[in-house]
Amino acid sequence: MKRSGPERLQRRLPGSNKVQRDSRNEQRYYMEQDDDTLHLLGLDPDDFESDEKSDKSKNPNSIQSGKWQLGFQAMSFDLYAKYGNNRTLSLVSPKKPYYQWRLRVPSGHVVRLVVLTLHGATPGSCTAHKLSAYDFLLPLQNKIIARWCGLPISGSSPVMKLTSSGNVMLVTFSFSRQRDGAIFKAYFQAIPRAGCGGSISSWNGSISSPYYPSYYPPNVDCTWTLRAPFPGYLISMTIVAMDIQDSRSSDGCEKDWLDIGGIRLCSPVSESGKKRVYSSPLSLHFHSDESLTHKGFHLLYRAFSPEGTCPRQFRCGDGGCIPLRKVCDGVKDCSDGRDEAKCSSCRPGEVLCGNGQCKPQSSQCVSQSTCADSSEEGACGGKCPHMCSNKVCLPKTSVCNGVIDCKDRSDELNCTRAYLKGCSSSSYKCANGKCVSKVNPECDGVKDCFDGSDELRCGCGTRPRKRTKIVGGSDAGAGSWPWQVSLQMERYGHVCGATLVANRWLISAAHCFQDSDAIKYSDARAWRAYLGMRLMTTGNNGAATRPIRRILLHPQYDQFTSDYDIALLELSAPVFFNDLVQPVCVPAPSHTFTTGTSCYVTGWGVLMEDGELAAHLQEATVKIINRKTCNKLYDEAVTPRMLCAGNLQGGVDACQGDSGGPLVCLERGRRWFLAGIVSWGEGCARQNRPGVYTQVVKFTDWIQQQTKGQV
Ligand code: ARG
Repeated sequence: MKRSGPERLQRRLPGSNKVQRDSRNEQRYYMEQDDDTLHLLGLDPDDFESDEKSDKSKNPNSIQSGKWQLGFQAMSFDLYAKYGNNRTLSLVSPKKPYYQWRLRVPSGHVVRLVVLTLHGATPGSCTAHKLSAYDFLLPLQNKIIARWCGLPISGSSPVMKLTSSGNVMLVTFSFSRQRDGAIFKAYFQAIPRAGCGGSISSWNGSISSPYYPSYYPPNVDCTWTLRAPFPGYLISMTIVAMDIQDSRSSDGCEKDWLDIGGIRLCSPVSESGKKRVYSSPLSLHFHSDESLTHKGFHLLYRAFSPEGTCPRQFRCGDGGCIPLRKVCDGVKDCSDGRDEAKCSSCRPGEVLCGNGQCKPQSSQCVSQSTCADSSEEGACGGKCPHMCSNKVCLPKTSVCNGVIDCKDRSDELNCTRAYLKGCSSSSYKCANGKCVSKVNPECDGVKDCFDGSDELRCGCGTRPRKRTKIVGGSDAGAGSWPWQVSLQMERYGHVCGATLVANRWLISAAHCFQDSDAIKYSDARAWRAYLGMRLMTTGNNGAATRPIRRILLHPQYDQFTSDYDIALLELSAPVFFNDLVQPVCVPAPSHTFTTGTSCYVTGWGVLMEDGELAAHLQEATVKIINRKTCNKLYDEAVTPRMLCAGNLQGGVDACQGDSGGPLVCLERGRRWFLAGIVSWGEGCARQNRPGVYTQVVKFTDWIQQQTKGQV
């Protein structure tokens, strides 16, 4: 941030955000990035110096007139679309400088984003506002599919159609000034991932970039082999449309290009260059790199006889014409026998496809079967015991064997086999190794283990003080949730929640610590924990604060699926427990939180999907939801490490800013146990879209290992 002082910004070159070759230009590129940084944070470059100085009295929720609200600067939404569904994204009177939508569709599909309206964006300057789409779930510069800095919108609808290369897309909108009215409306859908390329043998037809006229996806390579159906014919090609990245500035077409017969094209073609003639067979190759896509190309082709004297007939060496059905019929009809010279093993009326198969003349040879990759035998058509999402087929012995073989880990998801030796996975294991079959015996006030270990280490889960972004919740009383922690960053105030589980350990969500372009969330030094706090507006309000010594992310955390969304934070110094600061109980691996149980989720997250952070700690009751039900609602996106809780009618839920915070349930013995960590959900408090939490019991062993038994 320091690097992007105003004097540097003045030197910024407007326009391109390309990476240039020479070092001077490279510096310009980074300055562009710095400029982005300011945008993500919603800071006005002109205010930068003064902001820095006056930052001492940080107050995360104060509103500074005319400027953006400090505190939680970004709004992030997760949306999921099954095949056949359209999901809407809209932005009306934005209250934050930065919005992002993380779009997902089932694997094997790609995201199609259709931008319907884009207002409030005045053409010209990227410094005022911009809408960006990324081919990744993080806003990385090299993954930008498209960016608009205001468009001269002519009312033509829809404005834009974009496609991702995988099953995720990130859409962001950033502004420097607050605006009123409808800004942006779009929807997205899952479309089956289309193969591209292939061998074509046909008299005429068309070839276009994937999904044309929607923007082609980044990161694709397509190869076509085009054959005239009969020997001796040539191919005439007409370039109808040619809109490929980087048309003007790149010499040599390094980013995206279309190669026709060995010549790379990437710029608009002059009128005279639109029609070309090639010999058969003709190879075409389309390449798009990782970022920035356009509408692509559309070509029409036609096979013709060079002299044109035998339309739709075969021309013999002597110039005579014979009907096509007489070619390769085993009988020499031409005097020079040319009609039987270059014949394949295909029957008359059939053509030889690139894969060696004969197809009826009229049909194209659509090749590039899904087996074109590294899939093993049996993966196509035949039985495959387990197919990973990248189409690799696994033998039965690799499924649920405790070893991850698929890239997407699908071979070890949904496994019912328990690896616990001795105790079944549902029985509680005492310190002496004996098992107790009673449900949830730990800390329930009754000694169940012979060695009493189930009632040791029970200094947790109580609320000594209790006399009595959550959507649809209510203000929490003082000391109601003494394990609730606010994780704050120096400049941005409250960002995530966390839970106190021991005097120097907090549990939170791994996704809170994923770096973005602009902010290094993974740096422990950037964070501070606020404990024993309830009101966010009046400074610390008596809260204990601690710097964070280190952040331990679960090594299997997957940002695409949000699987293993858990992190441990070690405080730089232990906290002292009192009426307002208490640890919650971490459940044993055997602990069960039964479907239908009412539990509590707490936090300072936003009060509505596009609302403000809560100033007062919120609490809401949510019911544990059956995994199967939840998986149906989320189209199998809920892994065994996740737990759903909420209200299927909608109205009550965690929301942005609650992440990392606790879902706790009151158990026998009147102690509170940590059942879940706020992780994700589609929007907030929507009907049939419950909150999804990290299921803590799956991580008890990991927590114990990492904290060396301090929890
Ligand atoms: N990921 C969000 C955050 O960073 C939490 C989302 C929880 N959403 C929900 N609908 N329960 O704060």
